Amino acid sequence: MARKIIIDTDPGQDDAVAILLALASPEEVEVLGITAVAGNVPLALTQRNARIVCELAGRRDIRVFAGCDAPLERALVTAEYVHGNTGLDGITLPEPTMPLQDGHAVDFLIETLRGAPSETVTLCPLGPLTNIAAAFRRAPDIVARVQEIVLMGGAYFEVGNVTPAAEFNIYVDPEAARDVFASGVPITVMPLDVTHKVLTTRPRIDAFRALGTEVGEVVASWTDFFERFDMAKYGHDGAPLHDPCVIAHLVRPGLFGGRHVNVEIETQSDLTRGMTVADWWGVTDRARNATFMGEVDADGFYDLLTGRLARL
Ligand code: BDR
Ligand code: CA
Repeated sequence: MARKIIIDTDPGQDDAVAILLALASPEEVEVLGITAVAGNVPLALTQRNARIVCELAGRRDIRVFAGCDAPLERALVTAEYVHGNTGLDGITLPEPTMPLQDGHAVDFLIETLRGAPSETVTLCPLGPLTNIAAAFRRAPDIVARVQEIVLMGGAYFEVGNVTPAAEFNIYVDPEAARDVFASGVPITVMPLDVTHKVLTTRPRIDAFRALGTEVGEVVASWTDFFERFDMAKYGHDGAPLHDPCVIAHLVRPGLFGGRHVNVEIETQSDLTRGMTVADWWGVTDRARNATFMGEVDADGFYDLLTGRLARL
């Protein structure tokens, strides 16, 4: 039976590819809704972009909610230098016509978790954890109802991409991340340690384009555009494709390997704000709270992704 998921997201080209992978994989995941959060670009654009992606996939029926427009306790930091001014730069797509849902994303999260049998809904955060933490703060009863959180964020061996110590999603709202990692919900983390191994090399981008479909062309254009900045930075022959790792893990868990460890979030230090302090070597007696991924079958990941995008 397909696992019920809510995608919490700040699209972002890689978020967009993650949403497409989920919508192309109904055997494994059922998307109950998409909740937009401020992150890569402001909320007005992330909720718009989420609807653009649903329309591209022919899924105007998916409910998209707007959530928090700023981190819990800090000013918003965005990443137009990675994603472009729209968040989906790389190809021009029509403005969406499907409606944004009336309610707030945090209310949708709370109501959905209260309305479903306990431990049957998995949360898939692909951006700052603001919406998730806000829902947990407002309705602590829902925490124990979450089946699992599978998120993109953090880094250990790869250290930071937005500062020397921190990955963007955790850096933007470290208090939200701290709350989520302390919540007791089973957590699986896709950090930079794995996303920097799934690189958009030229043959992989060509394979998207060779699908000969609108979706293939759009994904090729997006992946050609974004994170070029990172290619220059890291000297890789392709850019990382972060957020689809979350959905790929739910569709084909055997692609990834990691360790169940303690992960704490730095919120006090200006120098290391948002650092995911992962006890990879088990040198503390702090309780294990997350499965932190470190390995991925990159060719298997791209075979899965390209094959699923071909369905749309
Ligand atoms: C994360 O930050 C965003 O730029 C991407 O969408 C991804 O979720 C990578 O650090
Ligand atoms: Ca994202």
